[in-house]
Amino acid sequence: MKLIDSLLERNSARGLIEPFPDSNEMKKIYQAALRAPDHAKLKPARFIQITGQGLNKLSSVFYDFAKNELMIKDESVLQKYKDAPFRAPMIIILVTKHQEHPKVPLIEQKLSTAASAQNILLALESYGYAGIWRTGKFSFNNKLLKYLNLDDNNTILGYLYVGTRDGDKKKISNYSVDEFVSVWE
Ligand SMILES: Cc1cc2nc3c(=O)[nH]c(=O)nc-3n(C[C@H](O)[C@H](O)[C@H](O)COP(=O)(O)O)c2cc1C
Repeated sequence: MKLIDSLLERNSARGLIEPFPDSNEMKKIYQAALRAPDHAKLKPARFIQITGQGLNKLSSVFYDFAKNELMIKDESVLQKYKDAPFRAPMIIILVTKHQEHPKVPLIEQKLSTAASAQNILLALESYGYAGIWRTGKFSFNNKLLKYLNLDDNNTILGYLYVGTRDGDKKKISNYSVDEFVSVWE
């Protein structure tokens, strides 16, 4: 399939099940992620890949963080967070590792990580897999860093839920490009 057709066909899965990409496929997928635009080649994107028992670990992290830092007491809400990581067989945590740079502010480093995330979603589709990008209460919160053994030079940008599409592919939305584009000529 031509790249333009893949771009036009990409969408998020409704749900995700096994199988997920093997280690050789993931190596290629991360290479694609590292091809994202990156001012001054700082390579700010980091990825924490979680499968198997790792999902139980992440589940405990979400539970402890929600209880201790978000001060949530309602057990049904805590249970929802505890269950969240099991919505896919693989999760990739998107992290930006900041560096001080005279020409590259933090926002650019985060934008580069976001571009890496989109490359991952596209690369997943090229192998026949799918993903869902999620954020919510477990993103952009520095208090979560210590639960993931990350230091203060990091930002958690979000989570890519990864696997095989469960059920039909969602219909691709068709937008009228003219609403979004102005042309100067
Ligand atoms: C930065 C970012 C954060 C998102 N966070 C969530 C989220 O927490 N929960 C959710 O259901 N969708 C979230 N989405 C949206 C989905 O990933 C998805 O893009 C959206 O449902 C549209 O579907 P599509 O990708 O098939 O067009 C987020 C998207 C982005 C770019």
